Amino acid sequence: MSETSKRILLVIGGGIAAYKCLELIRRARDRGYRVRAVMTRAAAEFVTPLSVGALTGDRVFADLFSLDDEREIGHIRLSREADLIVVAPATADLLAKMAGGHADDLATAVLLATDKPVLVAPAMNPFMWRHPATRRNVAQLAADGIAIVGPNSGEMAERNEAGPGRMAEPHEILAAIEARLATTATHRMAKGPLAGRHVLITSGPTHEPIDPVRYIANRSSGKQGHAIAAAAAALGARVTLVSGPSAQPDPAGVDVIHVESARDMLAAVEASLPADCAVFAAAVADWRVANATDEKIKKDGKSRTPRLELVENPDILRTIANEPPGRRPPLVIGFAAETENVLEYARKKRKAKGCDWIVANDVSPETGIMGGDRNTVHLITETGVDSWPEMDKPAVARVLMERAASHLLTLTATT
Ligand SMILES: Cc1cc2nc3c(=O)[nH]c(=O)nc-3n(C[C@H](O)[C@H](O)[C@H](O)COP(=O)(O)O)c2cc1C
Repeated sequence: MSETSKRILLVIGGGIAAYKCLELIRRARDRGYRVRAVMTRAAAEFVTPLSVGALTGDRVFADLFSLDDEREIGHIRLSREADLIVVAPATADLLAKMAGGHADDLATAVLLATDKPVLVAPAMNPFMWRHPATRRNVAQLAADGIAIVGPNSGEMAERNEAGPGRMAEPHEILAAIEARLATTATHRMAKGPLAGRHVLITSGPTHEPIDPVRYIANRSSGKQGHAIAAAAAALGARVTLVSGPSAQPDPAGVDVIHVESARDMLAAVEASLPADCAVFAAAVADWRVANATDEKIKKDGKSRTPRLELVENPDILRTIANEPPGRRPPLVIGFAAETENVLEYARKKRKAKGCDWIVANDVSPETGIMGGDRNTVHLITETGVDSWPEMDKPAVARVLMERAASHLLTLTATT
């Protein structure tokens, strides 16, 4: 299907970033999309329906109880006559209402009544974004299959406030729209040994904040985890990739959840279950900073050099591998990146974590594996060790996912 036939229903929430929607509409129409807009009551405080309508070239919808709108189109038809619904900016309030299934205005009624994929672009103050209520709502929306783009980190409209909460830029939202529409088309046509399976993958490093601008990270590039996600999608799986900050592009046909810290990664993984196979390729920080601050730590020459206190992060692999039957993915695969006694540590790790397979590799600096394009791995299963020849990371990914596909087939045949 050509892009020109795609229809986007844009739900505009009441946040400062609403002005960026005008640019988004313009870019989307340049790409050939037809755009229709629904605005919340609060959105009209930030951009006028007149500007929005002038750019969409269509009526702008706002009122659930409008007799004319309801007679002519109706909120149910509005929600179905789109290929994708995009919520931008998705306010904290809209995310909460969506997670709770509210439908007390046109925007939320349309979002609840739709049978189409939904993409949200959150935008809010960093404190609102980090609030446990918003964390819960975002995890719930991810579990409900809603795609999320952004937010980015940076300066806020409020003076002296920085952190995650800036809405993704219009070009980033447009890229997410295209990825989401491609995923939907791929799922519809999925064929291959993993068709009908859900594969959940973590990838990349995590960032553990020290203050709003500094963090602890590691050298993981995300190349291997992203390659596994692409390989699983190529074999027909529905793939959820939970990615820490990585320069790797989002693989096509994959639902990507971007996270920063280990705790966010665990929440996104938990919210994405159930899965047939889970692959934990991310290099998750073992520790986070217990005394992280909300304000930037100042070097003013008077204060003492700060001391970082570390506290252990949740163990994502162990947590998921020990979920009760029914929730635990039937095939749980961990990664062991070691610098010495690789096989011995990996065997122990498989037992200690309770996972099914471990993919072990030597990440000593001289191997060039961390961040490099090639990998030499050993697959440790219940029955023994398989040492694979050196391959590029996409080839390792392909072999691993082909092996996972046949293992899942065996499991299905024996249950
Ligand atoms: C100046 C101003 C800026 C605001 N910016 C945001 C924002 O960026 N994100 C957000 O979640 N809420 C923001 N709010 C609060 C929302 O407008 C408020 O929660 C509103 O009820 C959201 O309605 P809606 O979700 O139906 O659009 C802002 C409020 C004001 C007064």
